[in-house]
Amino acid sequence: MRPEGESKRTRPWRALASAVALVSLGGLMFNLAAVSKTPPQPPTASPRDAAAMFREGRDIFRNDTFGDEAFWGGTLQLHKAIEGSKHGGVGPGVSPKTALSVGLKVDAARIPPAVAKAIKAGKVDLDDPATTLALLKLDAVVGVKAHFKDNGKQLKSMGITCALCHSTVNNSFAPGIGQRLDGRPNRDLNVGAIVALAPNLKPVADLLGADEATVKKVLAAWGPGRFDAELFLDGKGFRPDGRTAAVLIPPAFGLAGIDRHTYTGWGSVPYWNAFVANLEMHGQGNFFDPRLDDATKFPVAARNRSGHTRSAHDQITSKLPALQFYQLALKAPKPPRGSFNAAAARRGQAIFDGKGTCSSCHVSPTFTEPGWNMHAPADTCTDSFQADRSPDGRYRTTPLRGLWTHTKGGFYHDGRYATYGAVVDHYTSCFNLHLSGGEKSDLVEYLKSL
Ligand code: HEC
Ligand code: HEC
Repeated sequence: MRPEGESKRTRPWRALASAVALVSLGGLMFNLAAVSKTPPQPPTASPRDAAAMFREGRDIFRNDTFGDEAFWGGTLQLHKAIEGSKHGGVGPGVSPKTALSVGLKVDAARIPPAVAKAIKAGKVDLDDPATTLALLKLDAVVGVKAHFKDNGKQLKSMGITCALCHSTVNNSFAPGIGQRLDGRPNRDLNVGAIVALAPNLKPVADLLGADEATVKKVLAAWGPGRFDAELFLDGKGFRPDGRTAAVLIPPAFGLAGIDRHTYTGWGSVPYWNAFVANLEMHGQGNFFDPRLDDATKFPVAARNRSGHTRSAHDQITSKLPALQFYQLALKAPKPPRGSFNAAAARRGQAIFDGKGTCSSCHVSPTFTEPGWNMHAPADTCTDSFQADRSPDGRYRTTPLRGLWTHTKGGFYHDGRYATYGAVVDHYTSCFNLHLSGGEKSDLVEYLKSL
């Protein structure tokens, strides 16, 4: 039996509940009526849409300059150094031999058969900057977009794309000339030497608040396969030990399923893509990151308000979805057969997952931590210089798949360990692992097999 008082209190609630039920039933009927009049909609995801987005993303990755010609051509006048004084530019110009020697790559698919035949027959002058111009006109230089004047002979401007640093070629035609390998870091590319060719480095010096001689010194110290994405934020050209502050160009493959990106975990893939397109390539877009207002950590960025970049003609933001989609589709390439000892690699895996404790951070199959994949420098017995140049002061656990594609330049963010063996030795002493010589070499074979 219910006490009197309660029944009085519950009755109005019941009435309200049935009123609500009636209203929602009415809504449902209304909705059903609306649905019955609309033709059936296609499913929200289709493989065809995915294929179109992949193609769009690939085109952006390979070919889009995001309007960065305003910087590379307009401000730095780099195109003038490439064509040389004979063709209306300045200086000796850049011959194909010079271009290949600073690590630029040529896409063999863009070379017509007749030209390919002439190159093979030694009939093309690879010491003549005019040949470089011809290659640029064919759109054959990976990651470089040249724009010609109406006469078709002289350069008007130039820009760069993501592929400049994050693609290479398979050398199928000749060293430096072959089919594109998107996502592989170009560890031959000497970005510092290329930028230093620019006739006008004053705007860079002004941006950094330094003189041109200092800028040249910083660029010359980079060397092949390196670039410094933080230079335009903090103006630090060198580590306290005097070595370059530039880091190795990492792969842009094998990144799906991973949370933080870059060596120091600046953000997600689309975060970093927007960062690079705006602040490094100097494309025309919008970029937001109030962390860059920290004038102690990022004096250059805070002064230039880099975290509040605005362009009236945004050529970047609309491209971020497809660009990310393409990057996430780039799988880490498998090592070639015979490039490692399979039996030793199997033994090495047991050490990686067991005694070596490697898999406590490098978790298969991404080989970084699912979730928050960041570590204090002391966790891997590393100095904090590069970590301190980022918002979190940490290092991200590097994904290890496809390690074999970028042994050149060494391992860790700054290449401090020249060989696989040196990395393993480092961990052996850092974690006090007591690994025998055989165990260490097994672990190396496993790393080669990833
Ligand atoms: C001039 C060379 C250069 C260009 C051009 C360039 N990058 Fe990078 N990229 C780098 C370097 C160097 C890093 C490492 C930065 C760091 O950790 O400080 C990097 C890091 C990355 C990462 C993080 C990888 C990881 O391991 O998490 C992604 C993703 C990436 N770049 C994508 C792009 C895209 C997309 C473009 C074009 C919009 C682009 N990059 C253009 C040099 C370049
Ligand atoms: C505490 C987490 C942690 C553990 C445990 C760990 N690593 Fe790492 N690993 C990292 C971090 C963080 C980096 C990035 C370091 C840097 O670039 O400064 C890294 C980088 C690497 C690299 C360099 C990758 C490149 O592209 O340069 C290799 C190789 C590597 N680890 C192998 C191993 C092996 C082998 C073990 C076990 C002996 C191991 N790691 C244990 C966190 C870890």
